[in-house]
Amino acid sequence: MSARTYRIAPSILSADLARLGDELRDVIAAGADWIHFDVMDNHYVPNLSFGPMICESLRKHAARADGTKVPIDVHLMVQPVDALAVAFATAGADRISFHPEASQHVDRTLQLIRAEGCSAGLVFNPASSLDVLDWTIDQLDLILVMSVNPGFGGQSFIPGALKKIAAIRARIEASGRDIRLEVDGGIKTDNIRAAADAGADTFVAGSAIFGKPDYRAVIDAMRARLAA
Ligand code: DX5
Ligand code: ZN
Repeated sequence: MSARTYRIAPSILSADLARLGDELRDVIAAGADWIHFDVMDNHYVPNLSFGPMICESLRKHAARADGTKVPIDVHLMVQPVDALAVAFATAGADRISFHPEASQHVDRTLQLIRAEGCSAGLVFNPASSLDVLDWTIDQLDLILVMSVNPGFGGQSFIPGALKKIAAIRARIEASGRDIRLEVDGGIKTDNIRAAADAGADTFVAGSAIFGKPDYRAVIDAMRARLAA
C-alpha cells in the first residue's frame, strides 16, 4: 500500500474559464500530475461543458517547464459515447473514461478507445453496480469512482464511495493488472487520506484547488496527507 504512487488530477471545470490556458499552466506549475477534463452533454448529465476543440487548444499547454507532457484525463459524461470518444482521442486526450450505462456496447467502446492509442477507463456512479467489471477488467487501464452524482463541481463527498473504492481495489488486486483507481467528487485535503486508505491512488479535485488562491499550497497539503 505505501509503495503506491499517488496522482493528483485537478479538474478544470472549476477553473476561471475565461483564462483557461493560464489556469492550466498555473496548476501544472503548482504540481498537477494529470489534467482532468470533464465533458458534459446536457443529456447524460444536466450540464454542458467542453468539447473536443477546447481539448485540442489546451493540448499544447499541457506540458511542464521541461517540455514533458502532462496527461489529459478525459471524463466523458455523454450519451452516446463512441463518436465523441474518437473525437477526443484525435484532439489529444491521453486517457478516456466513460460511464458504462451510457454506451450501447461497452466492449466495443473500450476497443475503440484503445485502438486510438488512449488508456481506457470505466466510471461508476454512486448507485451503479460493479458487475460490468466481471467482463471488462482485462481491457481497463483506469477505473473512476464518482463520489458525487456527475454533472457539477463543488458538491459534497458521498461517504458510501469509500466502500465502492475498497470493492474495486479488491478486484484490481485479484486481476493482477496495473489499473489506476481514481476518485472524483468532493475531494479535499481533509478527506483525501480516507479515499487513499480505501484504495484510491488518483484524486480528482476541482473546487478544492481552483477555489483557492494558492494552488501549490493545496496540492502540497494533499500530498502531505497522502504521505502521512
Ligand atoms: C463532476 C465532475 C468532477 C468535478 C469535481 O461531475 O466529474 O470532476 O469537476 O469537482 P469537485 O472537486 O469540486 O467536486
Ligand atoms: Zn470528472
